[in-house]
Amino acid sequence: MTDPLRVLILGGTAQARMLIERLAREPAVAPILSLAGRTKNPLLPAGAYRIGGFGGVAGLAAWLRAGAIDLVIDATHPFAEQMSAHAEAACREVAVPLALFTRQPWTPREGDRWNEVATAQAAASALGPLPRRVFLTVGRLQLPAFEEAPQHHYLIRSIDAPEPALTLPAYRLLLARGPFSLEEEMRLMQTEKIDVLVTKNSGGEATYAKIEAARRLAIPVILMRPPASTKAPVFYDLDAICTFIVEAAHQRASEPRGV
Ligand SMILES: NC(=O)c1ccc[n+]([C@@H]2O[C@H](COP(=O)([O-])OP(=O)(O)OC[C@H]3O[C@@H](n4cnc5c(N)ncnc54)[C@H](OP(=O)(O)O)[C@@H]3O)[C@@H](O)[C@H]2O)c1
Repeated sequence: MTDPLRVLILGGTAQARMLIERLAREPAVAPILSLAGRTKNPLLPAGAYRIGGFGGVAGLAAWLRAGAIDLVIDATHPFAEQMSAHAEAACREVAVPLALFTRQPWTPREGDRWNEVATAQAAASALGPLPRRVFLTVGRLQLPAFEEAPQHHYLIRSIDAPEPALTLPAYRLLLARGPFSLEEEMRLMQTEKIDVLVTKNSGGEATYAKIEAARRLAIPVILMRPPASTKAPVFYDLDAICTFIVEAAHQRASEPRGV
């Protein structure tokens, strides 16, 4: 029997977890999930995993070689730009194929009042000069950008608390991990008298309820656009990426080896 296809899944997302759990049932594939180690209590998969940075492109390339990795799946969050760029460069360096498993960005629907921006700095300045009650869910690493707009009151939702603590004069921190229902999101925005939602266009269903809640409550949204994707093939569907990986495993098994 040939060795299984060794697949590194770059994770930190629900998709990556779903993928490794599905691949665990495929004997032709040996997947390992990689997490950055940012979240204090990450949700760990039942299968193999590793935690922590690789040490840049060179570190990842060395790791791919040492682990005899056959295929890399970049299933990081659409905004994990640096990791995706490193994966592309390292895979090119060691000639390991790369594919992306991500979510289709949201597109506006009737009733949405979106202002799309490229960066957290642009989002902060788009809030304008007058004080507003802002619901901010952009991930804790982007929060310091809003220190440039201290005139607003912020309701900040994040999985872990920002470190160091923010210097903003008026904010309330809500430590919580989604998904949240439409009813929960609407209740929160109404109770907190939110004037504007600031978030990232992360795509997918798990975090969409806040977008729908804002639409129903006619609350404007400042939405950070996802960075441009790479040249690697992109998959949005779990079945499709699994088929791609299993076919790669079977193809490799049918090829002559050790030449
Ligand atoms: N950005 C977001 O909005 C967001 C939201 C939800 C979840 N996440 C997840 O949180 C993690 C960190 O996101 P980020 O935006 O800080 O990433 P990033 O800026 O693209 O990456 C920063 C560094 O963190 C390390 N890293 C990132 N993802 C890794 C992974 N899956 N395995 C091993 N090392 C990883 C790498 O360190 P080295 O250079 O040392 O290899 C990378 O250079 C990612 O796994 C991402 O999927 C991000």
